[in-house]
Formats: sequence, C-alpha cells, structure tokens
Amino acid sequence: MQDWFAEAEAARRVEDFSLEAAGLYLDYSKNRITFETFALLMKLAEEAGVTQRRDAMFAGEHINTTEDRAALHVALRALPDAPFKVDGVSVMPAIHDVRCRMQDFSERVRGGAWTGSTGQTITDVVNIGIGGSDLGPRMVCRALAHLGDQTGPRIHFVSNVDGTELAETLVRLNPARTLVIICSKTFTTLETMANARSMRDWFLRNGVAENQLARHFVAVSTNREAVTEFGIDPANMFEFWDWIGGRFSLWSSVGLSIALAVGFDAFDDLLLGARAMDDHFRTAPLARNMPVVMAMLGIWYRNFFGMPTSCMAPYSTSLELFPAFLQQLEMESNGKSVQLDGQPAHVQTSPVVWGTAGTNGQHAYFQMIHQGSQIVPVDFVAPLVPPRSLPGHHAKLLANCFAQAEALMRGRSAEELRAAGMTDEDRLPHMVFEGNRPSNTLLMEDLTPHVLGALIALYEHRTFVQGVVWNINSFDQWGVELGKILARPIEAELNGSAHATHDASTAALIARARRVLARG
Ligand code: F6P
Repeated sequence: MQDWFAEAEAARRVEDFSLEAAGLYLDYSKNRITFETFALLMKLAEEAGVTQRRDAMFAGEHINTTEDRAALHVALRALPDAPFKVDGVSVMPAIHDVRCRMQDFSERVRGGAWTGSTGQTITDVVNIGIGGSDLGPRMVCRALAHLGDQTGPRIHFVSNVDGTELAETLVRLNPARTLVIICSKTFTTLETMANARSMRDWFLRNGVAENQLARHFVAVSTNREAVTEFGIDPANMFEFWDWIGGRFSLWSSVGLSIALAVGFDAFDDLLLGARAMDDHFRTAPLARNMPVVMAMLGIWYRNFFGMPTSCMAPYSTSLELFPAFLQQLEMESNGKSVQLDGQPAHVQTSPVVWGTAGTNGQHAYFQMIHQGSQIVPVDFVAPLVPPRSLPGHHAKLLANCFAQAEALMRGRSAEELRAAGMTDEDRLPHMVFEGNRPSNTLLMEDLTPHVLGALIALYEHRTFVQGVVWNINSFDQWGVELGKILARPIEAELNGSAHATHDASTAALIARARRVLARG
C-alpha cells in the first residue's frame, strides 16, 4: 500500500476505490488490493451467487432454510405499495397497519393524550428486551438522542437478567408516569420475562392497581397468545412476524422506543435511509455496490490473510453503541461452521467484531492495532458535522480519525526516524511502525436518521453477502440454544429445589454458589 500511495497516480486509486451511496461516502483505497485483486474478489462474489441469493431474499424466498422462513426485513422499510410477498401473500398491508398504529400511539404518548393510570402524562419509557429486541433500538436512540431533547419522554433500556440493571433504573422512575414496552419476538426469553414480571410487581407495589396496568404496559411481539397470557391487552400489542430475524428487526415495531424517543417522522426517515441503501444494494453492479465491496474486502482479510478479528471505530460518541449492535449482527448471523447443505464449512467464517468510539480507543487498544503481531482491519465511521459539539472539538476528532487511518497505512520506518534526528538505536525498533495496515473510512455529512438508516442497512447487507460467500445460513442462531437449556436445571439447583449431574467443574461452581446463597 505504501508503494501504491507513493505513485504519481495515487489520486486515481482513491477515485477508483471510493464509492457514494445513500448519503454515505466510502474510501476503501487503504486496503491491500490491486485492480486485479478487486476484480477477482468481484468474480468470487458473482460465482458464489450473491446476485441470485440477494434476489431470493428480496423475493421473500425461504432463505432461512433451517427455520424454513423468509428473511424479509427489507419489506419493513418499503413503500406501502411495494410488491413484497411471503408465501404468495403480500406483507405490505400488515406492515403498513402496524406502522400506522405505531405512529398513532407514539404521537399520543408524546403529545400527552396517552396518560398513566392517574391521568398524568408519560415522562419515562422503559424498553425491556434483549439481543435484537434491545441492541438495535438502544443504539439508534443513543445515536439520535440529540433529536429527542425536550420533545419526547426519557427512554431507558433494560436487558440483563442481572437485577442490578432494572433496580438501578427503577429508582429513577415515577410509576404514575412510566410506560413499559415488553419487546420480545418470542415472548418467552428468560431475561425479558423475568424483568417484565419484576416490572409488573413494582407497579403493583407502588400504587398502580392490577386493572390499571394496561395504561403502563404495551407489548412488541410475534406471540399474541403469550402476550395475552402475561396480561397485556392484545389491543396494546404491536405485532411483527417470524420472517424478521431479531437482529434485523429494529425497523419493525421493535423500533417503537425509537418512535417514542425521537418522534415518528424521524423513525420514518430512518426507514427511508435504509430503503435508499436497499435500492442501491438491489440495483448497483457488484463492483460499485457498497455492501458487496465491503463484504468482499472482509472476505479478503478473513479468508485469504486469515485475520481473525475486525474493528469498528465510530468517531462519534453518538455512535458509541454501534460496535455492540454490529457484534450481534455479524457474529450471531455468521458465527457458523456448517454450510447450508449441512456439511462442515471448510473456510473461516465470522471474525471477532469489536471496537468502541474514537478517540477513546486510541488511548486503549490502538497500540495493538498499530504495532501488534496481529493485523486488524478497521472501519472508521465519522459524521462530518457533529450532532452537537463545542467550538474546536470536531476538527480535533476528525483529525484524529483521519490520522489513525493514515498512520496505519503509512507507518514509520527506521530511516524516517533517523532522518528526523532519532539517534538512540536501542529505542528505535520500538518506534517503528510497519504500516501497510488496512482500513475503510466511511463518512456522512450529518448524523441524520436517514443516513443512520442507510448505515445500518449497509452493514446488514454486508453481513448477508458474507454469509452467501461462506455458504451458511445467516438467519438462524442455534448456537444460543444449548446454554439456555442447561441454565434451567442449574437455576433449580441454585434455588435448592433440584439436583442434577454435571461435569466436576460445573458441579463445584454450583456447590460454591449454593454455599453463599444459603447464607441468605
Ligand atoms: O438468544 C438469542 C436471541 O434469540 C436473539 O437472536 C434474539 O434477538 C434475542 O434472543 C431476543 O429474543 P426475543 O426477541 O424473542 O426475546
């Protein structure tokens, strides 16, 4: 890379290896690719059937083979008259109906027409959910927090079954003015149901009568029966469908917390931005297709260089939760080692995805990215205009973002150090940066809901394309099941109501915990 950038036609490289789509600018010139590599990667995408599988996804085919379902999250952000069908039936009327109900409800809560049981307006909304029923809306609400100031209720997210999270949230709430969204695709998830029950007990203990709870609870789910059984009026349930994967669901009623936080118009803009990226993904030729290009660069490093991890570095505090969202999106989707046909995958699949907001990461783990023994491809993401800032701050932030990518690529040689006056030959090797380390830089003008929608959809499609190339099902998640099953009898044992056989290590851990729990 250092040589390529030293050439006279380096500007041409940037021109050729950059793209614009849906309000996003991608510079992928700082990658270890020649024009030949790039052409071969595109050929690989073509031969892997990316175009056909993409079209099958948009056509509502059951591409989630192990669950025999479509994966049609793209329909959630489509226009009401779009042609999306599942099993021959249009899904648009139902999507549109739920969208209208979300609009009506969010406007009534925000406008004060929906009140708590004592007639007071809602000041706080708690979204109880986990995984896809938490990470997406939590990340978007954080990213767009600047739009919610003074216009909407405060939004809280509770996901963990560790009671600390709910307990610490509750101390800040007034039950008369609190609305709870129980957000769960299945409405059976252990963490969510435990938190939902504790939340209901809290209302009952704090002066809200059982027959008034309906003013304080709504549900987002695909499981009407379980919602009704929990005691939530189905009239207060916002539906979605089993052909939406949890980690692809923030565009559905799972985004209700977003509409409540920033208003329905902003939520609608988010959908619009995602739709713009969908259109680009569906129509752009592979070599000019941003999700495809990014996916194939990821494949290049994962499979041809064997790089085991990749780093997401948003230079934006507003986007600080984007890496956590991406972890579920990529690793739950592509953390598989069995191909679609049930045979073992013979290539490496999802890398470990990690990262935090810049510049903080620079003062923590960037040492390893610059000089460590593993090479870590980095995605830098930065809004050029900050949602809010203070004089002088944003130029410093952007300068650091660009400087990191430059330093990774350029490095610093021993000769440069000597030429700059470095005479301590013992210390010199420690100060050399080999460079030639890859990164993408994604820029957007402002962090609007529209561009945020496009950014999320970009990574959704990038994840999907990689799954196609690896020939795996990106839409199931059987790997989360076993631990859930094994936790049930262990919980009973910890409560002293059962005894089961375990390996020696697990048995010793349970015994140790029981001794402490028995003390009360
Ligand atoms: O345990 C993993 C998982 O099934 C995720 O795929 C999902 O997003 C999360 O749990 C929450 O599931 P639910 O929305 O059904 O509560």
